[in-house]
Amino acid sequence: MPIPESFIQELKLRSDIVDVISSYVNLKKAGRNLVGLCPFHNEKTPSFSVSAANGFFHCFGCGVGGDVITFIKRIENLDYVDAVKFLAQRAGMTVPEDNRNDGLSNLRNRIYEANREAARFYHKQLYTPEGKEALEYLRGRQLTEKTIIHFGLGYSPKSRFELVNHLKSKGFTNSELIQSNLANESKRGYPFDRFSDRVMFPIIDLYGNVIAFGGRIMSDIKPKYLNTSETPAFNKSRNLFALQFAKKKAKGQLILVEGYMDVIALHQAGFENAVATLGTALTTEQAMIIKRYCDEVVICYDADEAGQKATARAISILRPTGLNIKVLTVPNGKDPDEFIKSYGDQGPGRFRMLLEKSGNDIEFRLNKLRARYNTDITAQRVEFLTESARLLSEIDNRIEQDIYISKLSEELNVEKSAIKQQVMRYVKSNNRQAGAKQQRELSRMISAENDKINSEKPYNLRAANAEEALIALLMYDPDTALKILRKFSSDIFITSFDRKVYEILQDRAMKGYDFSLADISGEFTNDEVSRIAKILASHPRENDSEAAAREYIGVLREQAEQLTPEQIANADNDTIMEQLKKLREKKK
Ligand code: CTP
Ligand code: MN
Repeated sequence: MPIPESFIQELKLRSDIVDVISSYVNLKKAGRNLVGLCPFHNEKTPSFSVSAANGFFHCFGCGVGGDVITFIKRIENLDYVDAVKFLAQRAGMTVPEDNRNDGLSNLRNRIYEANREAARFYHKQLYTPEGKEALEYLRGRQLTEKTIIHFGLGYSPKSRFELVNHLKSKGFTNSELIQSNLANESKRGYPFDRFSDRVMFPIIDLYGNVIAFGGRIMSDIKPKYLNTSETPAFNKSRNLFALQFAKKKAKGQLILVEGYMDVIALHQAGFENAVATLGTALTTEQAMIIKRYCDEVVICYDADEAGQKATARAISILRPTGLNIKVLTVPNGKDPDEFIKSYGDQGPGRFRMLLEKSGNDIEFRLNKLRARYNTDITAQRVEFLTESARLLSEIDNRIEQDIYISKLSEELNVEKSAIKQQVMRYVKSNNRQAGAKQQRELSRMISAENDKINSEKPYNLRAANAEEALIALLMYDPDTALKILRKFSSDIFITSFDRKVYEILQDRAMKGYDFSLADISGEFTNDEVSRIAKILASHPRENDSEAAAREYIGVLREQAEQLTPEQIANADNDTIMEQLKKLREKKK
């Protein structure tokens, strides 16, 4: 492992699992553990449990689990080394420089460096004769000097080799240029600039790394924007434009707009909590990120048909996160950038007014529904009411739901209780459907996991159960563990996954290192760590752990003498005879 042991120990002490998980999950005390809604699968009742005393989490629903480092790996989508760095940053520690960094994170860092150098290069171009037109373009769109610098905007020159040559002179290799997607590869294998004659928008992640670029053409030629494709440093569905600024200004609310230019215009106008997706529709991952930084999101997409469709889609992605959702519709078919500009000095004030009177998403959807029916005609009024009841059944907050029911009852002159009854009917059927769906999903996940991690378990159930009980016990009780680990070789284990766990515990114990889950998680994949956390979660501490350990080892010895059905099928005669002899001796 590239990171020194002593560093991990210190990091572990400073990264309390409850503190860390609490910034992502709302945890409540339940007995000796804490519970909350699992951030790794959709659920309505909490099955995600954190053991503060033993430093692990486990979801009884989806089976995901692990130590504090694994939690960060999963929730931030990082590899082990980056998860350690992430926690270190949080704990105010600096990871000692390792020169044996693993390949991928090495490449990723090179891409960050190349991108940063490219961003500098593009920005400088704005102030050269060749970049003059681009600078004029940005000024023509009423961006101030300050805004251009704040967002690090730039210009990619026409020639297809200027950036490539510049980066090569800084020591970047052809392969790095191509893998960063700053350059495309010619038929003959030479890199040439991907972006040419475009206004450049650097895309920056939460840690200040330049991860990608968007490039806008200055004429009507299509495509209007060219973006960086996926690279080892860039996943477009996991980042949001300008979130690095907006997260500091969110104050509980983010504004979600469609375009880079909308974000920039809004920030310039003082709405520094605006973000945008990166040329794609909103994803669940982005919704989860948004949820991390605010309680309320205002969707402010274009007023055209495409924009309204995208709004409906974004609502359905955002709703399950529990965020308060509002919809702001800019009048006269303008986008936020055009709207603000069209009012000059008054732009920001006008936009503030729109923001304040923006309705929530239920209103948005009710309005859409209402537009489809003529409520003067009885048949259509009934249909409108039925559809509205279905919509209102999605609101979790009963008070909010009641307000809409009252409004509808007044509007259409229909008994409130009648509407309410209809809504409740839909609520029940929603719950049934959600329950059944979750159940199916869970059994699928659980059975898939069983086979994947310890494929021998189903054929060696009794042995694997004893192995798991033994592993839990060793991890809970270091004193007993030392005795056992010194005395018994890993040969007593029957399934190879459990044997590997035992060997790693043994290896660390012999070196005098700790061997809690956080100490060993670096040796396993996320799914393997989940399995170990599950083993811990389903085995309470034993009172007399040494006696228990010997009992489990006894079971393992017994099982070792028995052949599995598979082995019996494949065994030669001698083995069978020997086995029978053993059984006879035992009976005596
Ligand atoms: N987009 C893209 N590729 C395109 C067109 C659009 O990736 N060919 C993405 C960009 O992220 C863009 C967003 O979709 O910012 C919204 O598109 P649009 O509203 O057309 O862009 P604006 O940022 O408003 O650009 P402008 O005002 O300069 O036309
Ligand atoms: Mn626009």
